[in-house]
Amino acid sequence: MSNVEQTLSIIKPDAVERNLDNEIQQLFKDKGFQIIKEKKIQIEKSEAEEFYKVHQTKPFYNDLCSYLSSGPIVVMVIEKENGILANRELMGATNPKDAQEGTIRKKYGISIDKNSVHGSDSPENAKIEINFFFKD
Ligand code: CMP
Repeated sequence: MSNVEQTLSIIKPDAVERNLDNEIQQLFKDKGFQIIKEKKIQIEKSEAEEFYKVHQTKPFYNDLCSYLSSGPIVVMVIEKENGILANRELMGATNPKDAQEGTIRKKYGISIDKNSVHGSDSPENAKIEINFFFKD
């Protein structure tokens, strides 16, 4: 049975700043993702706090929210068969140091904070995160 899923992908400030957004989008397309929606925006820190509220008790929460709101980002709804898992595999481990060859974070990530991309981690969060950026 087919299981086409949409998930939210964010190209983070470190990657947009280095003009890697087109290159990263091409990697998604090469893996068979369709980019259904996309926009380049800069968000307020308060919006980053809302987006990342699942991490609000973590020691890195404040820095994480400052960082995501520090410059332009590209937010995308991407779609593929089993897309949530496929996106996580393409991104690689959260810490670029642990990411496997061929993954986006291995290729472009600078540090655990500046890890170039975000992706939803579950079907439930994909819906919440897509709706956060693309309410229609
Ligand atoms: P992301 O997938 O966007 O989700 C939360 C982010 O917090 C994560 O990527 C990292 O960039 C960042 N982060 C910073 N420190 C940590 C940490 N110790 N563990 C997990 N995520 C961290």
